[in-house]
Amino acid sequence: RIYRKGMLEDETPDLPVSYEDLRERAHEEMSEEAKAYIHGGAGSETTFRREQDFSDWRIIPRMLQGVEERDLSTEFMGQEIEFPLAITPLGIQNLAHEEGELATARAAREMDVPFVLSSLSSTPMEDVAEELGDTPKYFQFYWSSDEDIARSFLNRAEDAGYDGIVLTVDAPILGWRERLIERGYYPFLNGDGVANYFSDPEFRSQLENPPEEDTEAAVQHFLDIFGDSSLTWDDLSFVFENTDLPVHIKGVLHPEDAVRAVDAGAEGIGVSTHGGRQVDGSITAIEALPAIADRVGDETTITFDSGLRRGSDLFRALAVGADVGLLGRPFIYGLAVGGQDGVEHVLENILADFDLTMGLAGRDSVSDIDRSAVTHEREL
Ligand code: FNR
Repeated sequence: RIYRKGMLEDETPDLPVSYEDLRERAHEEMSEEAKAYIHGGAGSETTFRREQDFSDWRIIPRMLQGVEERDLSTEFMGQEIEFPLAITPLGIQNLAHEEGELATARAAREMDVPFVLSSLSSTPMEDVAEELGDTPKYFQFYWSSDEDIARSFLNRAEDAGYDGIVLTVDAPILGWRERLIERGYYPFLNGDGVANYFSDPEFRSQLENPPEEDTEAAVQHFLDIFGDSSLTWDDLSFVFENTDLPVHIKGVLHPEDAVRAVDAGAEGIGVSTHGGRQVDGSITAIEALPAIADRVGDETTITFDSGLRRGSDLFRALAVGADVGLLGRPFIYGLAVGGQDGVEHVLENILADFDLTMGLAGRDSVSDIDRSAVTHEREL
């Protein structure tokens, strides 16, 4: 359909199709603060740069496989989903576009792509859930050092109809992000990044004055309770005791941690470097994936993120052992340049690219994409 539009109707897309062009356009339009927050990786950004390169893995296409009907559906946290792709949790989306998470949610709903909402949403989670309707939706949970607030978040997610919790374990402390430090600006501090906290009844009850009256004190309280670097695997029981929802653990790079997460009761693990934003110089997600998939791939669901830019990246991640990819920077750049339409544009393109890659590789269903579809450079 995308090709036909160009060939028969002489209609080419309004927004860039290539990720690089889209990023460039978004960077032209975004504020310096938004750029520093969204683009920025940790330290020298070595991991961030390297993880966008999947070229060590080469696809080995098979011919004449009868791929006219292609099934892109798969399963995630006990639900059937249309595509092996979901929107990753990404905070403070109103930095990219004034409609923030609501525009992204409308695009996800339109495209039937599952949505993971960040704890650091610039819109209260209940409003986003309403916008999502029946679209599969998950709430990404950042621990709070205040147990009552942590519990309140888990309860709200359940009450608002989220289908699962995505517990992010790779950010107990913020990584060394030079762009953010150089800007001297921390987006949370204007209150935008904490709308989800400001709307929390337990958080509010701990303030002397409501956040609307004294934003500074409310932000200060947020900084006091946000994150807990004392956590250990034993503390995970708190989450399982306080929610009936399935819990997916995101941010794992070592096979032993993957095993611990599964043993703790997780419905899947997420292989991720947090988009190269936490440990500069760390192993990339695609480098970490094979060993993790070998250890736990048969018994649990693996999501993959950090570096996915194109359909062929997603194909390779699935071939190496992931079940579902999480899309990050591409969709937020779509949001920055075109709001809801921009996110739809990005989702449509990456899914079309994935669909074509799958067909051209001779696979007619997602479950058919296995390690035999790729080879690593060192094996050539
Ligand atoms: C993130 N990420 C993230 N993860 C999370 O669990 N909670 C969050 O609030 C955020 N916030 C966030 C903001 C921004 C601007 C970025 C770029 C990333 C990490 C995110 O879920 C995912 O791991 C990365 O985005 C994947 O990397 P790429 O593909 O975006 O480069």
